[in-house]
Amino acid sequence: MPAPTAAEQRSRRRRTAGAPPSPWMMFLKGFFKHPVMVGAIASSSGTLVRHMLSRVDFNQCKLFVEYGPGVGTFTRILLDRLAPDATLVVIDTNPDFIDYLAQTIDDPRFFPVLGSAADVKQIVHDHGFEHADYIASGLPFSTLPAGVGDQIAKATREIIRPGGAFLVYQYNPKVKNFLTPHWEHIDHAMQLWNLPPAQLWWAWNK
Ligand SMILES: C[S@@+](CC[C@H](N)C(=O)[O-])C[C@H]1O[C@@H](n2cnc3c(N)ncnc32)[C@H](O)[C@@H]1O
Repeated sequence: MPAPTAAEQRSRRRRTAGAPPSPWMMFLKGFFKHPVMVGAIASSSGTLVRHMLSRVDFNQCKLFVEYGPGVGTFTRILLDRLAPDATLVVIDTNPDFIDYLAQTIDDPRFFPVLGSAADVKQIVHDHGFEHADYIASGLPFSTLPAGVGDQIAKATREIIRPGGAFLVYQYNPKVKNFLTPHWEHIDHAMQLWNLPPAQLWWAWNK
């Protein structure tokens, strides 16, 4: 019988040690269980996340909120940048993802919440803040149930402080239609180094 490869040995160690699955495997399982809510077959690339965060002033960021963290691709890079006294609240409707993040991210600044981004105002207040400085979203806006995307955009506009921004990445260019009723100042870029290539928007609360 051939000797197991290094990958097989790693996978066997994970199973026998009861360790959590790899982020990649966890994301794929999430997609097959809830394809519409997850809305993508692969996590975002690190290049996309760094591009989105390049416009954030981390010296003026006490509360960052992330919608739809999934398995934490964006979250982990964000925590590397966030100030030691800042707070990161992530909100996801999928209990498997929230449990996975709670199990795999050990950081006193990090607060995973099982819930909908539509309830962001209540969630921000529950964490002792009046406003969020920045909010990032990888939500599949175009496949959310009718009305939910607009509800989220409105609540987001109201909870971000003046000078803060809503950071949105999605492959569907129509997602901008959720932003234009609420923001006048919207910057846009494309990130090709992602599967599929993504649209990036920064909607500024002036
Ligand atoms: C495409 S995945 C994004 C994953 C991750 N942010 C990334 O960059 O790879 C979309 C995520 O949004 C979550 N989601 C869908 N509807 C939501 C809602 N109303 N509120 C919060 N999260 C939601 C899904 O459970 C899923 O984790």
